[in-house]
Amino acid sequence: MTIADERAEGSNTSANQTMQDVIALSRRSVLGGSLGAGAVAFMGGTATMLESAPVAAQVASTATLGFTAVPVSDADTFVVPAGYTAEVLIPWGTPLLSTGPAWKKDASNTAAEQEQQIGMHHDGMHYFPLMSGPEGQQGLLVLNHEYVDPILLYPDGATEMTQAKVDKALAAHGVTVIKVGLVAGKWQTINSTYNRRITGNTPVAFSGPVSASHPMLQSELGNTPKGTLNNCAHGWTPWNTYLACEENFNGYFGTTNTAFVATAAETRYGLNAAGFGYRWHVADPRFDLNANRKEANRFGWVVEIDPFDPTSTPVKRTALGRFKHEGATFADGNGKAVVYMGDDENGDYFYKFVSAENWRDVQKEWFNTKVRRSPLDTGVLYVAKFEPNGTGTWLPLVHGEGVLTVANGWADQADVLIRTRQAADAVGATKMDRPEWAAVHPRTQNVYLTLTNGTGWGAPSGPNPRTPNTYGHILEVSHAGGDHSLLTMRWSVFLLGGDPAFDPNVQLNASNIFGSPDGYWIDRDGRHWIQTDISNGSQNRTGYLNIKNNMMLAADPANADMRRFLTGPRGAEITGVITTPDQKTMFVNVQHPGESTTAWGTPTPTNPRLVSNWPDFDPEGRPRAATVVIRRVDGGKIGAL
Ligand code: FEO
Ligand code: CA
Ligand code: CA
Repeated sequence: MTIADERAEGSNTSANQTMQDVIALSRRSVLGGSLGAGAVAFMGGTATMLESAPVAAQVASTATLGFTAVPVSDADTFVVPAGYTAEVLIPWGTPLLSTGPAWKKDASNTAAEQEQQIGMHHDGMHYFPLMSGPEGQQGLLVLNHEYVDPILLYPDGATEMTQAKVDKALAAHGVTVIKVGLVAGKWQTINSTYNRRITGNTPVAFSGPVSASHPMLQSELGNTPKGTLNNCAHGWTPWNTYLACEENFNGYFGTTNTAFVATAAETRYGLNAAGFGYRWHVADPRFDLNANRKEANRFGWVVEIDPFDPTSTPVKRTALGRFKHEGATFADGNGKAVVYMGDDENGDYFYKFVSAENWRDVQKEWFNTKVRRSPLDTGVLYVAKFEPNGTGTWLPLVHGEGVLTVANGWADQADVLIRTRQAADAVGATKMDRPEWAAVHPRTQNVYLTLTNGTGWGAPSGPNPRTPNTYGHILEVSHAGGDHSLLTMRWSVFLLGGDPAFDPNVQLNASNIFGSPDGYWIDRDGRHWIQTDISNGSQNRTGYLNIKNNMMLAADPANADMRRFLTGPRGAEITGVITTPDQKTMFVNVQHPGESTTAWGTPTPTNPRLVSNWPDFDPEGRPRAATVVIRRVDGGKIGAL
C-alpha cells in the first residue's frame, strides 16, 4: 500500500518493548553461536540465513533451485529466468465474462462497468483447483484488489471528487473470483457462474463476538454493512474458503468538519480528518467521519469468502480481531484452526487466532448439513511477545483476563476485538517493524514472518544495525513439535534484507540483493518465495540504487541458496504467488505499475504513461496491474532443477 508506506510514523504510542530491542539483544548471542545448542548460521556466501539445526536436518535437500538468477532491473519490464515464459492474464479492467464490458484505455469505464471487470491493484491470491473438465486443467483464481490509483482510474485523474468517482473506486476494490484454465496450451479466463466480483459495495455479514447490530457498528446514516476495502494479503483454509484481509481501511475516511477530534481509539487506528487524500468523504457521506463515525468500525477485519458458492455473503470473522490485517495464514494446530496475522503498521504486532473447535469437525458438519458455519467464529486471539533470549509467548486477548477487565474500561469481548490494537498495547505485546505476510513450512511447520521495514522504535545502540530498519528482515518462529496451538515459541532472525554497500551486516550479493520483503509463500517442496514492496519513495534511490525495481526471489535454506527469480516493471510491487498443484504453473501479481515515484516522477491524466506503460505498451494506453502466468518451456516445476 504505497500511500501508507510513505508514512514513517506509526500510531503505537505504548511503552511496549520493540522487536528491535529484542533482536539487538538476541542477535549478539546468535552471531556468537550461543543461542542454544542448535544455533547455526548459514552464510554460504549468498545470504545471511539463521536457522536452527533441527530444522535444517528436517528440510530435505531436494528443494534445490534450478534456474539462473535474473539481474536487478530498473527497466519497465517483467523479467523471468531463461527457460521460463511469462504471460499476462486478467489485467485491471478485463471483463469477468466474455460478454462483459470491454476495458477502455482512456479510463472512461463507468462504475457499473467496473463492477463487471477485474479490479485494480491485484494483491494476495489463491488458486482453487477444479476437477478437470472439457477445458483441461482449470481452477478458480481468487485475488484481492488492494486500492486504486486515482490518476490511472479516472480520465481526469485525482481532481474534483464526485459520487460517480467514489462509486467507480469502490467497484475497483475488493476481490475477484474467476475461473481460469489451460486451454490449447494457454492459460485464459473461462466464462462461469463462479465468476464474481466482491467490491466496496457488496453486502457483508458479521459473525463471531462482534455482531452487525453492535452499537459501535451502527451507521448514523442508516446504511447497512457493505463492502470490503484495502484487501492486501489473504488466506486460504482447508475447507476451501478464501480469507480477504482489510489493511489500511482508515485512509478512505475523512471529514471537512474542522471541529472533528478523533478519539484515542480512532487515533490508534490512524483515523483522522485528512485520511490518505482520497477525499471520498467530500462526495460520499458514508466515508465522512463526522457524519457517519461508526462506519469505520465495520472495517479492519478478516473476511471469509466461499468461492464455490457465488451467492454466498462474505462474512467478517470478528474473532480474528480488528487491525490493519496484512494476511491470514492458516495452520493446523493439533486439530485447531490456527491463523497467523500481521498488523502492518510501523510499531505494531504479530497475532494468531486458535479455534475452540476441531476444524475438521466443523467442516464435516458444514458438508453434512449444508448449514454454513466456520471454525473461525469461536476461539482465542493471541498477540506475540518476544523475549531477547529467543523465546516468546502468545498473550491472550480475552475479556476478563489479566488487564482486560471492566474495571480497566473493557466492556466485553466485542469491545476487546473492536479495539484489538489497544488491547494488545495493554497486555504488553512486542512492537515490530511492520509485520506483513506469514508463511508456514509444509514439513517443519516453522512460521516465517516478513517485517518489511520500520523506524526501529527507539532500539538501543549496539551490534544491531537496524535502527532505522530500512531494508526489513524475516523472522522464523517455531513451536515444540510443530504444534501451532501452543502458547510458547522460539524465534530467530532468518534473513536480513539490504544492500551491503549501505549496511555491512548484510551478506547478500548480486544474485539475491533485495529489500522490503512483503509477500511470502513456501511451496510444497520447501522453496521459499519472497516478494518485495519497496516504497515508491525509495525505489531506485539512495539506499536502494543497487536493488532497483521490486522483485521475487526463491530461497532454499537447506542449501543456503537464494536467487532472484523475477523483476517487475517501474513503480510496481510484486505480490501474491501461488502455483497449480502440479507446480508447473505459477501465478504472480504485479501491483500498481506506473504509480507516482520519486525517481521517475508523477503521471498525469494527459500522460499516465510517464513511469510505466506495462503490460500493454499502448502509446495511447495506461499501465495496468495484472496477474502474470509463469511456466517453464520444458514443462517442469517452477523454480526446481
Ligand atoms: Fe498492503 Fe502491508 O502491504
Ligand atoms: Ca503487502
Ligand atoms: Ca507492503
